[in-house]
Amino acid sequence: MNNSKRPENMPRITTQALAEDFITEQLRELRGMIGGGKVLLALSGGVDSSVVAALLIKAVGKQLTCVHVNHGLLRKGEPEQVIEVFRGRMDANLIYVDAADRFLKKLAGVADPEQKRKIIGSEFIRVFEEEAGKLDGIEFLAQGTIYPDILESGPVKAHHNVGGLPDDLQFKLVEPIKLLFKDEVRVVGKALGLPDSMVYRQPFPGPGLGVRCLGAITRDRLEALRESDAILREEFSENGLEGKVWQYFTVVPDFKSTGVRDGKRSYDWPVIIRAVNTRDAMTATVEDIPFALLQKITERITREVKGVNRVLYDMTPKPTGTIEWE
Ligand code: XMP
Repeated sequence: MNNSKRPENMPRITTQALAEDFITEQLRELRGMIGGGKVLLALSGGVDSSVVAALLIKAVGKQLTCVHVNHGLLRKGEPEQVIEVFRGRMDANLIYVDAADRFLKKLAGVADPEQKRKIIGSEFIRVFEEEAGKLDGIEFLAQGTIYPDILESGPVKAHHNVGGLPDDLQFKLVEPIKLLFKDEVRVVGKALGLPDSMVYRQPFPGPGLGVRCLGAITRDRLEALRESDAILREEFSENGLEGKVWQYFTVVPDFKSTGVRDGKRSYDWPVIIRAVNTRDAMTATVEDIPFALLQKITERITREVKGVNRVLYDMTPKPTGTIEWE
């Protein structure tokens, strides 16, 4: 597994049968490499770390410890799903760290987007190191590195230098999916029995909702963001757009506008909807959402989400807009 170059004759994993061959081979390699040793994994719930977790649980069971850090910037239902799938269904050793307060305190008053990213990235490492320090005898650190990360053309990770784990932890690295492309990781995830909502999850940035709650993050706007994002995802899922649109989410800016509710003047935040398609995240086009669906989502968000009186649809392709707003 030290080789980081994909062999030319390696078949593209497109079918369940090919995924099963890959899994059988990886289980053999992982068992050979790890023996009776202990492995640690930061499990975000994204497809890459989830597939690595599922592989390692199959290979070495309770010798793996997964750490799921909730930085308070996850989407609605995500930590619960990680706990349900990995602790509930797969009987994994899972440490769940609710660090939301700690992250939000560090972020209080910080408006600069890159500063926010740095704080989230470095705090994440600190929390993870603290958890690792409480465990005895860990020899290996597993990571969900995939081939585009190695090629450094990875659209999501390569051009944002946040996330990742500390280099100075003295662990041997275990990277079982480092030669796979994203579509192959999904096929393997499916063959490992992970739920579709995890396997076909849209990309989600490491700093999470932190870069969608614009400017200095406040708990009330973060809540409006999480709730509006949940409504958008629910409506996309019910209307057959889940898995079809590459990335879709809401954004809550840090300004208010006037409105009217129950005959009274209101002064509340807008919610911005973003839904884009792309191949590599370097350029993107806007999804042509049916107008009636946009109206329904608007109606639900303004009715169900506290503190919101308007909904806007971002019509900007990349360029000139980036996909995220920060
Ligand atoms: P932009 O906004 O640069 O986004 O057009 C391109 C893709 O990268 C994701 N993104 C991030 N991913 N950490 C990440 O892990 C980040 O700080 C970050 N910022 C943007 C974005 O969601 C999109 O998929």
